[in-house]
Parts: sequence; structure tokens; C-alpha cells
Amino acid sequence: MICALPRAFNLTADARDLKINLGGDAMLLQTSQGQSGTAHVVVLGNEKGGSGKSTTALHVAVALLKAGQRVATIDLDSRQQSFTRYINNRRDWARRTGLDLEVPVHRCISLGETMQIADNESSELEHFLAAVSAVERTFDFIVVDTPGSDSYLMRLAHSMADTLVTPINDSFLDFDVLGTVDAANYSVTGESHYAVMVRDARRKRRQLDGASTDWIVVRNRLSMLGSRNKQLVADGLKELSLRLGFRSIDGFAERVVYREFFPRGLTALDDLNEETLGTRPSMGHVTAREEVMGLLRQLKLPLDERGRRRAASRAEWFAQVDKPLEVHDILEA
Ligand SMILES: Nc1ncnc2c1ncn2[C@@H]1O[C@H](COP(=O)(O)OP(=O)(O)OP(=O)(O)O)[C@@H](O)[C@H]1O
Ligand SMILES: [Mg+2]
Repeated sequence: MICALPRAFNLTADARDLKINLGGDAMLLQTSQGQSGTAHVVVLGNEKGGSGKSTTALHVAVALLKAGQRVATIDLDSRQQSFTRYINNRRDWARRTGLDLEVPVHRCISLGETMQIADNESSELEHFLAAVSAVERTFDFIVVDTPGSDSYLMRLAHSMADTLVTPINDSFLDFDVLGTVDAANYSVTGESHYAVMVRDARRKRRQLDGASTDWIVVRNRLSMLGSRNKQLVADGLKELSLRLGFRSIDGFAERVVYREFFPRGLTALDDLNEETLGTRPSMGHVTAREEVMGLLRQLKLPLDERGRRRAASRAEWFAQVDKPLEVHDILEA
């Protein structure tokens, strides 16, 4: 299947150049290339379900918002919609409590519902392109969550990623979508279907617009205790990273706090207190926040300097809000 889509396209301006051939297994998208001023696309992907894609997607989006970046989010997991619900919960909780929780501009791509696969793919593609073109010129980042199974849109998203983040549970069962290991000595013996799909998507992307995808495999739900399994998975990822060209980093530890956040749409980066959480924050919250910030640093996303300044002035403004006015504030106003 030919499946390639550069991130830097403008649907309305370049509609003429769009050549979409959905017949058989062929699909080719030709669009304008490498334009400046377009959003950086972060895709969360792993064909293994339950690896932490949606949890990480919201944390990355909120971290970027807190850094003053303009962030749009897209949910391609139209059946499950966990990412969408997580964001809706956040919006609802902010409204209900009056808390100032940053909420991204969000779109969920609806599934085609006809009996014809080609028609469905075509309408899903249209929705996806419309969602991207609506935000790509006016936002700094687009964070895309994908389903834990192979699909047409999931492949497309992988080929438009500037940064591909693949959370993986620290287990050889989860490792198996990336590569296989020898049963005796755990050395890597081959590459598995998801890794092959990503390599294909990255190659096509490079051919199309010369851009490369920074692929980062993030170990999730790490045990806080050292174990033989933990070390063996780390060694396997290191070996595989050299073959496949990804960076392997440590993400979040296994913490109950990540499971509690969903109903209120909270993240470890929010001001967690009795009002937001309904309970006193624990050491788990503090360390979770540190590991989320650590993850963001390691992702090395291109933060816009204007965004950083926006975040700094907003923080200053918030700090001022509670203070009584000084005489010189009034005189200088
Ligand atoms: N670091 C963590 N510690 C504890 N629980 C976690 C952690 N990360 C994710 N979880 C929990 O693991 C489950 C799966 O997480 P999530 O839904 O984010 O994965 P996913 O990859 O998006 O799944 P799917 O493939 O089904 O979309 C959820 O119950 C989530 O709360
Ligand atoms: Mg998910």
C-alpha cells in the first residue's frame, strides 16, 4: 500500500494537487511540500492496545499548552474515543469548578458508516484532512492519538508525524509488536509488523518531502523496583533502536495516579490540591509531575519562543491576580 502524507499541506490551496487514488490497495497523496509556519505533528502510536497512548497524548498536549504553545488535538481512535472523552472530562471539570484548566482545540474523526470500505476510507480521509488543514497554519502543535490496531488513518497519521511517540509497556509481550527475541539469550532476532509499518511510513515521508520523523519509544508503566525483566527489555530496546533508528527513553512509572485522572480530565502537570483532586496530593503526584516534565524534555519538541513568553507572562499575570493593588499600579494604569 502506498501511503504517504506530508504534514505541510493546505487542503484548500492545494486541493488541485491532491491526487487520491483509493482503488485496490493504492493510495497516493501528493501535496505541497515543506512549507514553513506549519504545526509540528506529534503522533502517539503503537499497534498494541493499552500501552498508554491516550494517557501520554493528553499529558503531552497539556504540557505544551502550559508552555504557551498553541495546541490542537485529533482523535483517530473513533471507536473508543478515550482521548476525546479525556478532553471532554477536562473541559467539563473546568466549567464545573471554575478552575483554569487549559483545553486544546479538539476534533474526533468520525468513522465512515457505509457498507463500502473504499467509501468509508474516503470520507474518513476527508474528515482528517479537513481537521488538519483547519489548524495546521494557526497552531504550533497538532497532537494525534491513534487506535491500537492497524487502520487506514492510523497509517496515514504515522506518515505525517514529525515526532512519533510509541509508549510501550515494559513486557516482552508488548515488545513483540516491535521485534522478536531469542528465547535462550533474549537477543533481537527480527523486526515485527508495527516496526515494519513505521519504517515504511518514515521512508515514504522522506521520499515525499525529505523530512524525517523523530521516533521515540517510551517505556511506560515502569516498575519502581529493578528486575531481570526490566533490564532485559531495556537491553532488547537498545539493540532494536540501532536497527530501526528510534530513541528509547524511560517514561512513566506504574502509578495509580495516572488511572485516577481520567474522570476529571486532569494531568500530573495541573495544580493538584484538594479542590482539583478531591483528596490531598501524594508524593506519587509530585513524582509523576517530575517524570512527565522529564519526558517532555527528552522528547525535544521544538517549542516556539513566543509561546514560552506567552506562558511566562500568563504565569506572572496569575501571580498578580491574588495580590491587592499597589498604589503605583493604580497611578501607572
Ligand atoms: N504509567 C501508568 N501507570 C498506571 N496506569 C497507567 C499508566 N499509563 C496508563 N495507565 C493505564 O493503562 C490503561 C491504558 O492506558 P491508555 O488508555 O492511555 O492506553 P492506550 O494505548 O491509549 O490504549 P488503547 O490502545 O486501548 O487506545 C488505562 O487504564 C490507563 O489509566
Ligand atoms: Mg487510546
